[in-house]
Amino acid sequence: MQHVVVTGGAGFIGSNFVRYVLTHTAARVTVLDKMTYAASPEALQGLPADRLEVVVGDVADASVVDPLVARLTGPSDAVVHFAAESHNDNSLRDPSPFVQTNIVGTFVLLEAVRAHDVRLHHVSTDEVYGDLALDDPQRFTEQTPYRPSSPYSASKAGADHLVAAWVRSFGVRATVSNCSNNYGPWQHIEKFIPRQITNVLSGSRPRLYGSGQNVRDWIHTEDHSSAVWAILQDGVIGQTYLIGADGERSNLEVVQLVLEQLGRDPDDFDHVADRPGHDLRYAIDSTLLRTELGWNPRYTDFEAGLKDTIEWYSAHRSWWEPHKQDVEAGYATKGQ
Ligand code: NAD
Ligand code: DAU
Repeated sequence: MQHVVVTGGAGFIGSNFVRYVLTHTAARVTVLDKMTYAASPEALQGLPADRLEVVVGDVADASVVDPLVARLTGPSDAVVHFAAESHNDNSLRDPSPFVQTNIVGTFVLLEAVRAHDVRLHHVSTDEVYGDLALDDPQRFTEQTPYRPSSPYSASKAGADHLVAAWVRSFGVRATVSNCSNNYGPWQHIEKFIPRQITNVLSGSRPRLYGSGQNVRDWIHTEDHSSAVWAILQDGVIGQTYLIGADGERSNLEVVQLVLEQLGRDPDDFDHVADRPGHDLRYAIDSTLLRTELGWNPRYTDFEAGLKDTIEWYSAHRSWWEPHKQDVEAGYATKGQ
């Protein structure tokens, strides 16, 4: 039976991927997760216990990582690397865990897959490419030069470069994917869409950074999972694939949609202090993934996906409500 080690498998996207693999395939999964503030072990509940093991540990700790990777001896076994510090605003408050987990953690994992000749898929972000002008007809492609803006995106860019070097210099069997902004269930309420939904559900107003003209290219997390699985099955070793679902929206549009879908006045939000160095626009051209691997997104109706997500947060208050006050207190110190 195929065996996949999923780092960061208790996080927002990692847990979706674990559920995807256990639901759609016969593979077994070992999650390696440090269980930071961003982890949701609840998201793994109800999955088949005979095919899922959860190991609590740090991806930057070789004494934990090496023996786990050594267990992957089958021809299709692999590591899928989601573990990261993932929030830009946190990286502006304290970059140190971003360098440690995202760069050192990826280095430790690369050394383990090199030592045991194990296939790796490294999960990265479109933010490594910097940003685009609002009217730029070009979108990011696999050829776009790296130009990261924040400590988070620079740490992910550093990790991507390490993977590329281990492929070229040591022959490590790795693929990389750079995906756009995800939304869906179990996303931490520090992030834009869940923050605004839970603001409205808690009786406060959404908070828009700056003018709200910034554009993000939204993809449902389920589509990210299906793309990573497609790359793991049929991706070309050494290749980078961009993952996106043609979901460009300005932040202003998204806030107004959230308000409308919750029956509120679309102008019932506050403009707050902008994010320093705030990237203007991300946009992905995912032609390579679609033509080479035949992947297509299923969640192409953003309004419908957002509606489902709002319903999910309305039904899961006991998961997010205990953390809401602390998250908002952190933002309040920055006038956000
Ligand atoms: P998340 O913050 O929700 O989850 C990260 C998970 O990693 C958590 O479970 C956390 O406990 C774990 N983790 C953190 N440090 C660790 C360490 N040192 N050792 C082991 N586990 C550790 O993040 P997410 O939004 O699910 O993102 C997952 C991956 O996808 C990241 O690599 C991120 O860069 C990438 N990505 C995210 C998006 C997005 O829109 N959220 C888009 C593109 C790429
Ligand atoms: O593009 C992929 C990236 O998307 C991932 O690599 C990151 O892990 C993920 O967090 C996300 O980064 P962003 O910085 O784009 O996401 P965030 O949800 O923090 O913010 C989305 C946009 O909304 C951004 O332009 C900032 C803005 N924003 C955010 C918050 C939290 C607001 O206007 N108000 C807010 O309260």
